[in-house]
Parts: sequence; structure tokens; C-alpha cells
Amino acid sequence: MKIQSIALKVLILLGSAITTSGAVAQISSSIRFDAQTKIFRIDAAGITYAFGVNAQNQLQSIYWGPQIGRDDLLRGPAANAGVAAFDPSFTTTPLEYAGWGAGLFVEPALKISFPDGNRDLVLQYASHSIEGNKLTVTLRDTSRDLFVDVHYHVDEATGIIARSSSVINRTHEPLVIEQIAAASWNLSPGTDYFLRYLTGRWAGEDTLQHQKILPGETILESRRGSTGHQNNPWFAIERGEQTDEDFGEVWFGALAWSGSWRITVEQDQVRNIRINGGFNPFDFAYSLKPGEKLESPVFYGGYSKDGIGGASRLLHHFELSRVLPQAPNPRPRPVIYNSWEATKFAVNETGQEALAEKAARIGVERFVMDDGWFGQRKDDHAGLGDWYVNPQKFPNGFKPMIDKVHSLGMDFGLWVEPEMVNPDSDLYRKHPDWVLNFPGRARSESRNQLVLNLARRDVRDYVYKFLDQLLSENDIAFLKWDYNRNWSEPGWPAVGASSDEQKKVYVAYIENLYGILGELRAKHPRVEIESCSGGGGRVDLGILTLTDEVWPSDNTDPFDRLRIQDGFTYAYTPGVMVAWVTDSPNWVNNRTTSLNYRFLSSMQGSLGVGANLDTWGPADFETAKTLIAAYKQIRETVQHGSLYRLISPQGGSEYSATESVSIDKQQAVLFAFLHSSQMGYPFPQIRLRGLNPTTQYRVTPISGALAKETPAIASGSYWMRHGLEVNLKGDMQASAFKFEDNSAVHSSN
Ligand code: DGJ
Repeated sequence: MKIQSIALKVLILLGSAITTSGAVAQISSSIRFDAQTKIFRIDAAGITYAFGVNAQNQLQSIYWGPQIGRDDLLRGPAANAGVAAFDPSFTTTPLEYAGWGAGLFVEPALKISFPDGNRDLVLQYASHSIEGNKLTVTLRDTSRDLFVDVHYHVDEATGIIARSSSVINRTHEPLVIEQIAAASWNLSPGTDYFLRYLTGRWAGEDTLQHQKILPGETILESRRGSTGHQNNPWFAIERGEQTDEDFGEVWFGALAWSGSWRITVEQDQVRNIRINGGFNPFDFAYSLKPGEKLESPVFYGGYSKDGIGGASRLLHHFELSRVLPQAPNPRPRPVIYNSWEATKFAVNETGQEALAEKAARIGVERFVMDDGWFGQRKDDHAGLGDWYVNPQKFPNGFKPMIDKVHSLGMDFGLWVEPEMVNPDSDLYRKHPDWVLNFPGRARSESRNQLVLNLARRDVRDYVYKFLDQLLSENDIAFLKWDYNRNWSEPGWPAVGASSDEQKKVYVAYIENLYGILGELRAKHPRVEIESCSGGGGRVDLGILTLTDEVWPSDNTDPFDRLRIQDGFTYAYTPGVMVAWVTDSPNWVNNRTTSLNYRFLSSMQGSLGVGANLDTWGPADFETAKTLIAAYKQIRETVQHGSLYRLISPQGGSEYSATESVSIDKQQAVLFAFLHSSQMGYPFPQIRLRGLNPTTQYRVTPISGALAKETPAIASGSYWMRHGLEVNLKGDMQASAFKFEDNSAVHSSN
């Protein structure tokens, strides 16, 4: 009987999907083409995406939103009329993938220069193929053998569509691609759309912006050679003023590319809303010889009717189940210790071993040694590029230290910054031509370093070889892969003087970066990797297909982190968001906070400790030990559950609160933070979300107290409707509570 019911549960789960509210719904996914109406229709997880071939043979967008009746689309799309002579039909018709030509004045998806000087490109439907949940539509220019495959791959559980494009030159001459999008997304005309996006800078990442979409174009981009701290390749568009965290329609997208990128959001002359995204066309060119092909990155897009909170939960589940290297079942992130803020570059065998002993005492599972261990690295002026173990700091190599870390029950991780070189290094003295540069021009240094041109085969091989060797010769479970500057003078002289060839660096560099990561993972499948770029400068869904976690910011002030972490979760799951507890006062703001506050701030993501444990007293160790043990009981829920941002810390809010609910709804965790009590007002009553209304949940404090009247056990509907009062007063206060299905608590006792 028991086995039968387990089997039934497995079957139900296999045929089910995560809905935007985190609930489980039946899967229904299909891709259909109606030959009569010439309409393509993708239905999945309660969402319909439709487009078709119009009378001009163009691929025209029709609909994207909640699922519509099976037989509702009875007529194929008709191209829009133009607006007088100035905005012809070609520019006012919402096209799935428009070439620049024939009077297109909105953002093109593709712009090409042919060798005869022709730059007119008009793409028409040629053929298509459907395989399961994948659709490819092939477009061809009206007169030349220039083909574009427009790809759609729908995820059955979330309705998120992965779109990308490949351009194939089947002409007999070379051509140059000047602009190429992964996809164009169209929303029906309107003036009531609002855009959310993320902005920032070093130590100030992921600030959420919210603005009305007005006529014209908003550009989100990086021209820096990598993802960048300044904008993140993610957007969300809400319709109407009433939408909020839990209600309203939201269309969202994320571009999977770790190089220079661009997303444009446009309201055109007939109030169509178009979103284009792909390689940044700034300083871009990619020449294709006959027979060659260029593939764009993937641009994911999704829809939620459950507000921006529903949109992020969909993305989180999608990332965990489809994107991450360990998807669909990523291992929970271990609790790490990182040496950076404690020792800076002054790492050595005895110092690291002493820290490791203390880290083990509080329950850390992975000990990570940061910068300073290699070459002649004493500070940031020298050593990058020389990846041998510094013999003064580690006279016996790494083995005794790693053995010690293992004997303490932890695994060992190591910091590397493979793509960079200090001019003061043996590598640079030997290979000055290996960096990005324009001959005869200055090589601008940032943090005293230059960028190795990973697009070069010899550089790629060097980087792969030293990393492979490091991982083969040492028992290393984890790499923190850092990247601490942006590009300048992005020349690639070795490919010749043609700037069109040299500009391929924007694509080839990132392809090689992905190639190295992929090969390393294949050869060392147990090794996990963190993407770090001076904090959160390289966080995107491209790097996240090859790395297990990211470092969101060098800013470890626990109060600033609340806002950075909140912004981060609009686009990325807390399951990849590493958050360290560091020393107080914090180096960023000189702000003093309790160890308890620091822990609770970091426990909302993947918990780590980066404090100098050599300066801790017995009480600190006790607090850390208790909270790390508590974290281990809730981490599955925090990292892989459904996140509800109950009270936002954005906009200088006095309070904030988050709640995570496990997928089976048996556990929930609430974190509440008070910046400073004002006028004696109480902390607002908190109403939970996402619980099972009829389940009885028992509440237990992880840290802090509830109001006296709070019941120990109450139904999900009580916690969600009546809510609870957390007893927070004072400055920089925090509390956390665990809610557990009372029947599960009983049966496990
Ligand atoms: C920047 C990173 O974000 C820090 O955590 C640290 O690893 C330093 N680099 C080391 O140079």
C-alpha cells in the first residue's frame, strides 16, 4: 500500500509543473503549426505564445500571455497598416525577427553588410521543424541565400521559452553581421506598461528600478566585455498600475550571455512594445565566410499572472531545474568559510590552518582560501598569471593544509583569477602579446592588471592547462573564479589588421571562457565553481549554466546586503546567492551590527562566513555554531523553495521581511529586519504567503521572539490571513522563525 502511494506520488510529480505561486499543476505542453492559418502556437504551463506567417511571408507576433482556448486563433496574422508615409507597415508590424531593411525604423534583430555594399535585409518564412518541445523556423532573405534559424525551446514546467537565433551564410561571398539579437519579444500595444530592471556599481549591485514605458527606447547594456555591475541582463514588464508583488501580469526575460550585451525596451509609433536582446552592437562586427554560421546567446522569456513575485519564483524554479549545471537537482550549497576579509593577501599554511580549525568548530563545511597563494603575490601589484604555489607561504605545497582541512571534516576550495595578468609577472614578461591591446597604444591598467585575450587559442590552452593541473594535483572541491576589471583597448592584433576580424573577440572570448569551464567540469565532475567578478560583475544565465553559485557583491555590510539581495532575487534564485557573515564594524559603511543580525541577513541565501575568526570570543563561536546548525535545517527551503518578498527593503524602508516555503509546503522560514524604530510604532503585522491553508504549522524561533499572544500552532490560513507580530524594537534588529507542518514534526519524533 505504502509503495503504491509513493509510486503514485512520483507519477504525479513527473506529470506536474510548478505554477507561479509555487503550487504544482498538471503539465500540458505542445507546439503546433496550423498549415491553414499558418500559425505557430506554443502552449505550456498555462501560457500561450503564438505567432504566424502573414501575407507578406513575414513572421509576425500574435500573442503572449495566459493560455487561450485551443481553437481561438482562427485567422492568420495580418500585417499592420503603416502610419502615413513616415512609418510604413514594415516598421509598425510586430515581427518575430526583423532584418534591417525595407524601411524598418525600430530596433532590428539582425543587421548585415554584404560585400557589394548592399545592407538591405528582408527576412521571410522559408520552412520550419518541430521536435517535441523545440521549434525552429527558418527565414531567408528575399533575394540572397542568407538564412536565419529562429529557435524556440519551451520548458513544460514553467512555460519559459528559450529563444535564440543562428545566421548562416549560404551565399558565395563573405558578409559582416553588425547587429544580431537572440530574440525580439513583442507585447500588444499599450501605454500602461512599467519596466523593472537592475542597476548598480561595484559594491552597490542590484538596485531595482521601476519606470513607466514611454515612447522611445530604454537601453540596458554592458559594453565592458563582461556582464557588468551596472546593468544586469534581466528585465520585467508589468501591465497596469495595480500590479505588485503578488498580483498582475508580468512578462520577464533574462539573457544568457557573459560578454558585452544589450537589451532594448521600446515603445514604437503605434505603441507596440518590443524587447530585443543579444550581443551588444556597440563596436560589434562578426564576419561570416560562405558556409559559416554565428549563433546568438539564449534569451529566456516568461510570463506570470501572479505579480513580480510570481515571475521571480518561476525564474528561480527554472534556474534550479533547467539552467544550473547540477539541474534538475542541485546539491544544497555547503556552508563555506572564506579567508579574504580576514587575511587579505597574507595567506600562509599556519594562518589558514588556524582559521580552518575555528571554522570547523562552528559547523563550516567548505574552507576556501582566497587571493594571495600564488606566484609573487603580496598585494594586487604582482603575480596574476603565475599560477604556482608560493613557496615562502606554502613551503610544503598545499597537501598538508588540504589534508588538515579534510581531517576537520571540510572540503577545500581555492580562489583563482584565470583571465588576468599583472604586468609584474613572469607570464606577462614572457607573453606581452597575450593581452587585449591595440599595437602602439597604451595598455590601461585597472587594479594593476590587464585582461588576457582568451579568444586566442594559446591563451585558452594555457588557462585550461594550469587549472586542470591544479585540480589534478590537489584535492580541490571548489574554485572561486574571480574577474576583477573590465576591458579597455579590446584589440586582437594576431588576427590581422581587419577590424571586422578583431571584433570577433567579443564572441570568441566568451565562447572560450564557456569552453574552458565546460571542459573542466567534464574532467573534474565533482568540482564546484563560483562566479565572482569583484562581487556581482558576472551574474547571468550564461555563466550560471557552468557555475554553481555567484558572489553577489563585495559589499558585506549586512544592512546594505538586504537591498542587494532583494534586487538579486528578482532575477536569480537565493540558491546561488552566496552571503558571508563578516566583521563589524563593516569596512564599507563602518556600520556596527550584532553577529545575530549579520547571520540572519546572510542566512537568506547560501550562508558563508568571512570574518576573522582569530579575533572572535567564546560567545561569538557559540552564536555562530547555533545559527549555522539552525541554517542547515532550513537551507533546503531557503535555497530551493519558493521565495516571497513580504516587505521590501528598497527605497529606504525601515523594515523588511522575506519568507521561503519548501516545495512540499511542509516548512517555511520567515526573516524580519528592523533598521530603526521610529516614534515607537510596532513592526507591521506580517502575513505569510504560500502555505497550505489547512495544514497546522508549528512556529519555532530561530532567533528572536514573537508577541506573547502568538499561538504555537495554527493553520496555514491563520498565518496567512491573521498573520503574526514579531517583537522587534531598537536599531538594526533581526529575527527569524521556522514554521513546520505539525503532523510531520510529530511523526518524525
Ligand atoms: C574580489 C572578490 O570579489 C573578493 O571577494 C576577493 O576574492 C578579491 N577579489 C580578491 O582579490
